[in-house]
Amino acid sequence: METIVRKIDKNQIDEDVIREAGEVLKRGGLVAFPTETVYGLGADALKEEAAKKTYEAKGRPSDNPLIVHIAEYEDLKKIAVNIPPETDALAAHFWPGPLTMIFEKSAAVPYGTTGGLDTVAVRMPSDPIAAALIRAAGGFVSAPSANTSGRPSPTTAEHVMEDLDGKIDMVIDGGSVDIGLESTILDMTVEPPMILRPGAITADMFEEVIGPVSIDETLLGSESKTPPKAPGMKYRHYAPKARLIIVEGDLREEILAIRQLAYAAHREGRDVGVIATGETLPFYKYGIVKNIGSRENERTIARNLYRVLREFDEEDVDTIYSESFAMQGIGKAIMNRLEKAAGHMRISAAAIVKEQKYRRVIFVSRADSVRGPMAAELLRNQDLRQEYVIDSMGLVVLFPEPANQKAEAIMKSAQMTLEGHFSRQFDGEGLQDDTLVLTIDSNQKEKILSEYENLKNVYTLNEFVGDDTEIPDPYGKPLTAYGECYEVLDGLVQKLADRLNLDAERDG
Ligand code: TXA
Ligand code: MG
Repeated sequence: METIVRKIDKNQIDEDVIREAGEVLKRGGLVAFPTETVYGLGADALKEEAAKKTYEAKGRPSDNPLIVHIAEYEDLKKIAVNIPPETDALAAHFWPGPLTMIFEKSAAVPYGTTGGLDTVAVRMPSDPIAAALIRAAGGFVSAPSANTSGRPSPTTAEHVMEDLDGKIDMVIDGGSVDIGLESTILDMTVEPPMILRPGAITADMFEEVIGPVSIDETLLGSESKTPPKAPGMKYRHYAPKARLIIVEGDLREEILAIRQLAYAAHREGRDVGVIATGETLPFYKYGIVKNIGSRENERTIARNLYRVLREFDEEDVDTIYSESFAMQGIGKAIMNRLEKAAGHMRISAAAIVKEQKYRRVIFVSRADSVRGPMAAELLRNQDLRQEYVIDSMGLVVLFPEPANQKAEAIMKSAQMTLEGHFSRQFDGEGLQDDTLVLTIDSNQKEKILSEYENLKNVYTLNEFVGDDTEIPDPYGKPLTAYGECYEVLDGLVQKLADRLNLDAERDG
């Protein structure tokens, strides 16, 4: 079948499109539509056959019940019975919105919709397009997320088309959704009510309205043998094609661990995917790194999660490493989805982070325009077992200047470049215990040691590699002198790489 796509502006809803979509649903067809959480795949919730079509289009197991979406609170009474009294307060606070509540079902709801259960999940979405569509369809629209079963839920109409083009009648394109993760599911048939799926509405928020609620403990632990109470939560879900692994630890350790993993893969000629945040992005140099949002505002992470997972399917990676996120607020829902996408594969950052004596190497020369930058570039081109941040700095730098042109000419002839280099003054700042400072001559070393008393690990390059071949200063001399200097540096830097690699072998 041909899937019709209709764009709609949520601030100026085109009633003709809504009427057309409503007709499709009334005839028993399938229409995907935006909600504030994710795109839903709508069908008439009161028609047995409509549910069957939904399961078919999604490739979803038919024991996985659907959520019935309503647009008027009064309509709840038509599909649910024995509605507990706290429901009014919850609805007053959170409906319309990203909350699904589970009740005993009335006879009006077919078992097809509830996956054979005697309970029904009900949600009143706040998205105006969703509300208009539900009204146009007669008031009761069943809608699972509009993805192929097992894939990440769709947060744009394009995602829906990726999965369901040709399998459904229509898609209403209302742009990107707001929240990005599915609704919180609260089971109202137990006392106190129980959260079956975490979402934007959190346990704390419920507690403020009706007192404490419980949480289905099977949701978070990976070891549990009991199936979760929401049937849909038992499947590996939201999953990208690549293997996703969550790296856990404190943030610094997580970054170091992922960097090591990405570096090791890169050395073997393959790249891994990295899920990073705006704050941590600059720390990654290797791998295909995607920014999932800001740690300052976890809502941005929720909004981007599924898009980022889908984007990795377009990349040539077989493993994706993700940082982990705080479990507060919507963070709990983020981690729940991430863990499901990872099939609960987690590794401890601390176990990965190898003892590494040096993580940064700084070559210090006089003006940082010839020998320092050459040595740094030579080291960057060595095959190093561990990753190092490699810099050069000078002791007399008045303002940033590009590298010396003759030095650049020599490097170019060896397929390297000093392009983009600007000289920097050595000021002893930001140096850690794992920084190795290598000077070109011993005067420079003495000067640094006398000015920065607490600095560890300052050596001349010769001393560190145990080779006293003098490094000539070609400054002001013809090109050949630069070539001779290059030869000496090249020999010393190869020895340096051997030495660092030997240390790495010992540590790792
Ligand atoms: O945000 C949302 O809830 C989105 C949008 C489209 O509204 N819908 C959504 O539906 O996420 P779906 O089908 O992808 O997930 C529904 C979840 C499943 O885990 C299902 O097992 C659970 O709700 N569920 C539905 N009816 C239930 C019931 N009667 N008892 C327990 N769990 C139920
Ligand atoms: Mg779903």
